Amino acid sequence: MQTAAVKGVDTKVLDKITEKYRNKPGALLGILEESQGMHPHKYLPSETLEYIAEKTGTPLSSVYSVVTFYAFFSLKPQGEHSIVVCRGTACHTRRSKFLLESLESMLGISEDDLKEGEKIFLTTKDNKYTVKTVACFGQCALAPVVEIDGVIHSHMTVDKLRREIGKLNKFGGRGK
Ligand code: FES
Repeated sequence: MQTAAVKGVDTKVLDKITEKYRNKPGALLGILEESQGMHPHKYLPSETLEYIAEKTGTPLSSVYSVVTFYAFFSLKPQGEHSIVVCRGTACHTRRSKFLLESLESMLGISEDDLKEGEKIFLTTKDNKYTVKTVACFGQCALAPVVEIDGVIHSHMTVDKLRREIGKLNKFGGRGK
């Protein structure tokens, strides 16, 4: 029986998660989501992905395809909460850059960190928030779109964003 930890996630936990989803539709997505949620830094280390690939009999390349396709998944350690701002064309024309810049004052992110033209992945010093950008959520009719802790928020405004962050600051817990 394997009991070794895989970068912060005990393989026993991964075993339980994979067992729970055995023969269920969308199993891989569910397994990856729960596994990321269980990690203290809310991400999927390569060792975890290798373990899940082996346990589920899925080619490792397919596991990576899923993880890199969905903005929700992270291959790097994240803060307690994640905020993903869409920078696709539809969202850009509806001022998603302005939303991103507004996070500078809300979260104390430096202006240099929000350079235009680069894919953003940054975590606040207190490790509370990770801010990311994505090319498109595929929900362009709802632009501008921001995903907070895995929940899509449509027609986002600075005021709405401030309110959502205020809720997280107040209640702390990771929403779903
Ligand atoms: S451009 Fe933002 S959802 Fe498509």
